[in-house]
Amino acid sequence: MRVSSFLTTLVTLSTVLSSATAVGTKVRRCAVRGGAKSGSVSSSASGSSSTPVSSSGNSGSSSPPSSTSTSSGVSSKAPQVVQSAWFAGYHVDSSTGVSFNVDQISWSKYTHMTYAFAVTSPDPTSISISSQDEEVIPQLVSAAHNNNVTVSISVGGWTGSRYFSTAVASQASRTQFVTTLSNFVNKYGFDGIDFDWEYPNKQGIGCNAISPGDSANFLSLLQLLRSTPSTKDLILSVATSILPFASSSGAPMTDVSAFAKVIDWIEMMNYDIWGSWSSAVGPNAPLADSCAPGPDQQGSATSGIQAWTAAGMPADKLVLGVAAYGHSFSVSPQNALQGESLVAYPAFNKNNQPAGDNWDATPGTDICGNATPQGGIFTYWGLIANGFLTSTGQNAPGIDYRFDTCSQTAYVYNPQSQVMVSFDDQRAFTAKGQFIRTKNLRGFSMWEAGGDEKDMLLDAIIGGL
Ligand SMILES: *[C@@H]1O[C@H](CO)[C@@H](O)[C@H](O)[C@H]1NC(C)=O
Repeated sequence: MRVSSFLTTLVTLSTVLSSATAVGTKVRRCAVRGGAKSGSVSSSASGSSSTPVSSSGNSGSSSPPSSTSTSSGVSSKAPQVVQSAWFAGYHVDSSTGVSFNVDQISWSKYTHMTYAFAVTSPDPTSISISSQDEEVIPQLVSAAHNNNVTVSISVGGWTGSRYFSTAVASQASRTQFVTTLSNFVNKYGFDGIDFDWEYPNKQGIGCNAISPGDSANFLSLLQLLRSTPSTKDLILSVATSILPFASSSGAPMTDVSAFAKVIDWIEMMNYDIWGSWSSAVGPNAPLADSCAPGPDQQGSATSGIQAWTAAGMPADKLVLGVAAYGHSFSVSPQNALQGESLVAYPAFNKNNQPAGDNWDATPGTDICGNATPQGGIFTYWGLIANGFLTSTGQNAPGIDYRFDTCSQTAYVYNPQSQVMVSFDDQRAFTAKGQFIRTKNLRGFSMWEAGGDEKDMLLDAIIGGL
């Protein structure tokens, strides 16, 4: 598998003793399905140890987050628009030849930043981060606060959600987990926790613990965080799919209003809607889909917002998750083109997944022991670096382009390499910004900060707000 190996420190935060042991784990990370939020990082264990972490924490160290301070779920005033992104720590000083570091963040354009990831462990008294994370997190938190930007730790992710179910399973485990989280945020000075559980009572990577009680237990955890003095004022957010949390039956919950009472916002991850697993090439991040042919209605920002608000999540607690990357497909010119125009929803060759950019995952084995294919992900900068787009984000000479007015997303096609990519360009990001404004949503969160090129997407979405 590509990419570096990192030493991981398993940060053990005892809930009883005010001391902690550190046990190390070596973690390999590689993007899988979607260099993406919902399909990204795999890790596998074995290793040695490093920095011990005091479980008593430096409770004075979490800076009050200035003007953007937490709403604690109860605010009568119109809440501040959230302009956010996830910052992937494993792309700092990346061995892939392309890095995105803390000093490259355009802080003035963000109100909030989220660090990805701390991962769950079998024991609710610990969550783990890599040794690289240990170096990067203090830089990120300090830079954010110097710029009046609030900053959260994202717990979980595609490969880090294996033990959420265990951590929230009982009153006792929830109490331990809250202490673990509290100590972690205090140690690093985070302003909030972003739960990226993929997914409650729904299998994600393939070997997560799951239980019919997950969503109810998750709610109990969030309520406990809100009633615990050391965590009650944290910004609490949850990264979700476009469907509400799975109920005990597995069907989406029809009433999530109790969640709305205790969280600040959800980030609805409206991406990876279509990809290599789909029946045809389709939009990675559709804004709408009711305008598409019936079988091509796989969900969208519009349908997701409808589902969440119908279940009782207020629009001002809905942050739209947006993608600074796209999925690639191998498509023959016969299927791709009709005359000079790109065809919508063309068939593709499933046996020939193109490679994406330098951050893309090469075939390997995930933490569950299952084989993973080439990822096929192109970040926005990767589309430029690989000749699909010019440096200003237009389709390059010899590259076919289509803007799908239904999904409000872009496609490019290289007839030489026969690679088609479904992605969001500046026009797509502008449309999403306008959508956020007209639907009175809370804001946006982009996966990932380092996927953009010269802020072209970030500026476009902010311009649409
Ligand atoms: C942060 O906020 C403080 C207080 O409002 C202000 O004085 C300072 O200039 C701000 N810093 C930045 C980088 O915006």
